[in-house]
Amino acid sequence: MKKILVVHYSQSGQLNDVTKHFTQPLADHPAIEVTFEAIAPVKPYPFPWPFFTFFDTFPESVYLDPPEMQPCGISGDENFDLVILAYQVWFLSPSLPITGFLKSDTAKKLLNGKPVVTLIVCRNMWLMAQEEVKNILDEYGAKLVGNVALTDECGSAMSFFSTPLWVLTGNKGPRLGGLIPKAGVAPEAIKASKRFGERICQRLTDNVVIDETLLRNLEAVDVNERLIASEKTARRGFKIWGRLIRSMSPSGDPKRKPILLIYALFLIFFICTFIPLSVLIKAAVAPFTKVRVKKQKYYFEQPSGFRD
Ligand SMILES: Cc1cc2nc3c(=O)[nH]c(=O)nc-3n(C[C@H](O)[C@H](O)[C@H](O)COP(=O)(O)O)c2cc1C
Repeated sequence: MKKILVVHYSQSGQLNDVTKHFTQPLADHPAIEVTFEAIAPVKPYPFPWPFFTFFDTFPESVYLDPPEMQPCGISGDENFDLVILAYQVWFLSPSLPITGFLKSDTAKKLLNGKPVVTLIVCRNMWLMAQEEVKNILDEYGAKLVGNVALTDECGSAMSFFSTPLWVLTGNKGPRLGGLIPKAGVAPEAIKASKRFGERICQRLTDNVVIDETLLRNLEAVDVNERLIASEKTARRGFKIWGRLIRSMSPSGDPKRKPILLIYALFLIFFICTFIPLSVLIKAAVAPFTKVRVKKQKYYFEQPSGFRD
């Protein structure tokens, strides 16, 4: 019997829905035992998010400050053949509940020497978050054998509006007669994620070695090369603002509100000016940076890639 652990957390249910379709072929297979671990912080994060709580989560997300977590159903001594870590991105970082899990002693014991597949479901900026997750996996001696990233169907520009509106109101839209499209991952993409479970099933039951080829040629990730530099720049800015806000007052302190408001206004200004400007500049210099950007795209697409 092959044993798989699936670690997941979701606020709206979207990530759980993807996880369900992804793992269905595994759960249905008689020779595979799947353990689902729905992790939860002691103090739940609200959904929909009140404005200040949303921004108040930003410094701790960026600095990977683990929240206190409810006890897990696993001890860390179990021996799984594969761990699937399903997570969403908060402020270009793994969401805080996932950080809480990853930074626990249980995760440290559990992941040591284990093959891991990451399943990211987010708006569409996940590269920096995955770098943080990769660092932790490396530190624990785990081996990343696959990565799947499902992103919002309306694309990077419109999702800057549709996703925040969704998480702040709980309503996916569409809004303004379709001017702001519906937020979230396309239902067809969610259903189609069962192809990854099928491949894992096949590899595990054929007793093939589980390595980085596990999810190749399945369109697992499609890195938007125009966003690579934006993510790097935004990440640097997030670190500076995060350090400043964290040094002023702790999370939840009403004294944080003025600086959070300034930060929120800065962020809106940044999104409306810097990101479109940098996309334009990048398009203009593209002929000169083609080789470098291609290398970066290849790096971020590992280990699963799009198609060969
Ligand atoms: C506080 C917060 C910050 C977020 N930051 C990002 C981000 O930096 N990049 C991104 O692609 N998506 C971001 N998202 C969208 C989430 O990754 C995710 O798609 C959405 O919250 C739905 O996840 P759920 O299954 O937990 O409901 C953010 C969402 C929240 C609530």
